Amino acid sequence: MSCAEIRQVLSEDIQSVSEIEKLCFTEPWSESVIRRFSESEGYFRVVTASGKTVGYAVAESAAFPDFELLKIAVHPDFRRKGFADMLIRDMTDYAVLSGFEKIFLEVRESGNPAIALYRKNGFVTDGIRKNYYTHPTENAVLMSLDLLSR
Ligand SMILES: CC(C)(COP(=O)(O)OP(=O)(O)OC[C@H]1O[C@@H](n2cnc3c(N)ncnc32)[C@H](O)[C@@H]1OP(=O)(O)O)[C@@H](O)C(=O)NCCC(=O)NCCS
Repeated sequence: MSCAEIRQVLSEDIQSVSEIEKLCFTEPWSESVIRRFSESEGYFRVVTASGKTVGYAVAESAAFPDFELLKIAVHPDFRRKGFADMLIRDMTDYAVLSGFEKIFLEVRESGNPAIALYRKNGFVTDGIRKNYYTHPTENAVLMSLDLLSR
């Protein structure tokens, strides 16, 4: 972890992010969607290990003062090393500094590693959205982090 770094996504990261997307999600974002987010004003940062892009998180303003985490993923070969924890902490710091009051997210009900990650970082479950996801059809767990009570 000593050579791990979090930084703003760059255009040269698009391919690595796209590869990680395909490894992590049944409906990965296309390169053009990734590029669009990388050029927008929201939060899109990558974590690198020894210079290699191994994970990323994407978040944006929902309706101020709400912030929404859209994606977080770590390459399968680099999991359980604390990279997602680093990204969540960085994204939370960014949200606080930007004046947001709450972070929302949705996660697949079967996404136990992600749900554990969010709980560890203080997110609580607000409810379930039935059959929210496709490929495969699955409920979404709605979670949030209150930044004012931290
Ligand atoms: C969820 C994900 C981002 C976690 O990345 P990671 O870098 O391996 O996570 P970390 O090493 O930072 O772990 C942080 C915490 O998350 C939880 N966690 C992570 N992986 C876990 C697993 N396989 N089982 C249980 N808990 C897990 C733990 O609480 C862990 O803390 P601990 O190590 O002190 O127990 C990664 O598994 C992933 O990319 N999954 C596929 C994409 C995804 O589901 N994204 C979320 C929806 S967008």
